[in-house]
Formats: sequence, structure tokens, C-alpha cells
Amino acid sequence: MAIKKVMVIGAGQMGAGIAQVCAQSGFNVVLNDMNEEALQKGMKNIEKLLTRAVEKERITNTDKTDTLNRLTSSTQLKDARDCDLVIEAVVENMDVKTKVFSELDGFAPKHAILASNTSSLPITEIAAATNRPDQVIGMHFMNPVPVMKLVEIIRGLQTSDETFNAIQTMTNELSKTPVEVKDFPGFVSNRVLMPMINEAIYTVYEGVASPEDIDTVMKLGTNHPMGPLTLADFIGLDTCLYIMEVLHEGFGDSKYRPCPLLRQYVKAGWLGKKTGRGFYQYS
Ligand code: CAA
Ligand code: NAD
Repeated sequence: MAIKKVMVIGAGQMGAGIAQVCAQSGFNVVLNDMNEEALQKGMKNIEKLLTRAVEKERITNTDKTDTLNRLTSSTQLKDARDCDLVIEAVVENMDVKTKVFSELDGFAPKHAILASNTSSLPITEIAAATNRPDQVIGMHFMNPVPVMKLVEIIRGLQTSDETFNAIQTMTNELSKTPVEVKDFPGFVSNRVLMPMINEAIYTVYEGVASPEDIDTVMKLGTNHPMGPLTLADFIGLDTCLYIMEVLHEGFGDSKYRPCPLLRQYVKAGWLGKKTGRGFYQYS
């Protein structure tokens, strides 16, 4: 099955990045968000990043115009009606995701593949909200999508070989490297990364060092491109908390307990870079 038209649901930092990369790779893309303001912000961000790429002579002005011409915006899920692939990138919450997939199942054409960019949630459970579990798959991009080369591909219990092969081919067409991972909480990336971030938050909570010093230790001492607290702010503290909760519940092991400070920051609305405040302040 040839994938030509893609809908991306959720125009936040991940959805906008996925839409940009798909459009730059020649796919027609509909970027969808239920929130008009978020949708316009996502579209503007894409244009800004393309303009920067032209300035840095990574792409030509014609590439930019062609990419933008392949991109449309929508606030209605019914606009999935002529799409071959839908990639969902809404909030990391099972109830929200299953609602989106169940509605989408009624709008997307019968042949369409429904993929989730979930960071940690079971693909099998998301697939069960549809009448096409064989055509549901995890397609986990990394942040920032235009830069990061990896896509974790996760099969649910019923995902067909045809669906898997189509998504593996598409990932290569986006110039990304696909890695197949089993449907276990947090897959590989977040099962390894998020406990480290959570531990860094405990280190702040216990007063061992300041966020700046913890980040300096990890950047200069272990060559991480960003310290764990800068990275947590960049990912979004709400997303970090959701992922830790999925790991904690999914494995039933206290080693994954989310740090109380992380919960407190999320309750305060300090979600990191996207809200202007997390472990650091952003103007
Ligand atoms: N969106 C798009 N492009 C971006 C970007 C963004 N948010 N941030 C940086 N870039 C681009 C820059 O434009 C620049 O491109 P050019 O080479 O064309 O100039 C390039 O990335 C390098 O940027 P900088 O020189 O400004 O900064 P840097 O060298 O520090 O790199 C970084 C920035 C690539 C983000 C780097 O700091 C990094 O790799 N950080 C770690 C990222 C990471 O770990 N991501 C995974 C998060 S976990 C995840 O995604 C899974 C999950 O489910 C939570
Ligand atoms: P975000 O908060 O930046 O964006 C989410 C967007 O989804 C918002 O614009 C919101 O308006 C929209 N939305 C919410 N419910 C919706 C619905 N029912 N229909 C349409 N739009 C809806 O979040 P994000 O960081 O882009 O994360 C999105 C997904 O990607 C999550 O599942 C997250 O776990 C995953 N993810 C995040 C990262 C990261 O580093 N932030 C990395 C990989 C994967």
C-alpha cells in the first residue's frame, strides 16, 4: 500500500515536527489540532524552522515553498477521510488517545494505517479502541523531530506484517532509522532515559546539588548534549510525569516512582519550556 497523504493529530512540539518532516519528504500532510491557537502556533513554528533552514542554506527557497504547499491545517478529525496514514501525537494519556483512535476509526478510509507517537503507552490497548487493530502501530519519533534520527516502531499484539513493513519503509523515506521494539511500558528509549531524568529530579529534591550543577555534571562528566533537567524541561514535565506513571504502573516496581517534586511542578503548571517555567525560567 502506497502512503501518499498523512494526517498528524496534535500540533504541539512533536506533531508539528512530524508534519514538517513528512512534508519535507514529499508527503501531503494535514496537521490537525482540536485547539485553533495550538494549530496556528504549530504551523508558524514549521514555517520558522523552514526559513531558518533556507538561511543556513540547508534547503532552497523552492524547497520551503513546496513543503508549505504540501501542508494544510485542520481542526476536524473527519479530514482524515482521504489519508493513507494518520499519526497521533496528542497528550500522553490513555483515555484521550483511545477516544481519538475510536473516533478516527470511523473517519479514516478502511485501508488507512493508524499510528501513535506515544512515548510509553501500550499499543495493544490503543489498537483495541478500533475495529482495525491489525492496522495500528507505534511510531515513536524523538524530540526535536527534524534533528533526531531514530523512530522506535512498536507492534501491538495484532499488528500485521503488512502494516509493519509499510511503516518501516515510510520511516526510511523520512531519512530516519527505524528500530523495532516490543510493546512493553516505555519501550526502550523511555525505559532507559526517564528513570535517569527522574533520579536527577530526586537529586534536586534531596538538595544534593542545584539544577545547573546537576546538568553541568552530566554534560561535562558524561558528554550528554543536554543535562537531564534541561532535557526534562525540553520534553515537557507533564510528559515526563505521564511516562513515569506508565512505567510505575506497568512494571509495579517502586524503582519507577515519580519524584514528588515532579508532581508538584506539574500541579503548579510548571511544565518546562512550553509554559516558560520548569527547572529553569524561559523568557
Ligand atoms: N527543532 C528543530 N530543530 C532544532 C531544534 C528544535 N527544537 N533545536 C535545535 N535544532 C537544530 C538547530 O537548528 C541546528 O540545526 P543546524 O545544524 O541546521 O544549524 C541543530 O539542531 C543543532 O542545534 P544547536 O547548534 O542550536 O544546538 P545543539 O548542538 O545543542 O543541539 C539538540 C540541539 C540537537 C537539541 C541537542 O541539544 C540534543 O541532542 N539534545 C538532546 C535531545 C534528546 O535527547 N532528545 C530525545 C528526547 S527523549 C524523546 O524524544 C522521547 C520521548 O518520548 C520523551
Ligand atoms: P504537546 O503538549 O506539545 O502537544 C499536544 C497537542 O495535542 C496540543 O497542541 C493539544 O492541543 C493537542 N491535543 C490534545 N488533545 C487533542 C485531541 N483530542 N485532538 C487533537 N489535538 C489534541 O505534547 P508533545 O510533547 O507534542 O507530545 C505529544 C505526544 O508525543 C505524547 O504522546 C508524548 O508522550 C509524545 N512524545 C513526546 C516527546 C517529547 O519530547 N515531548 C517525544 C516523543 C514522543
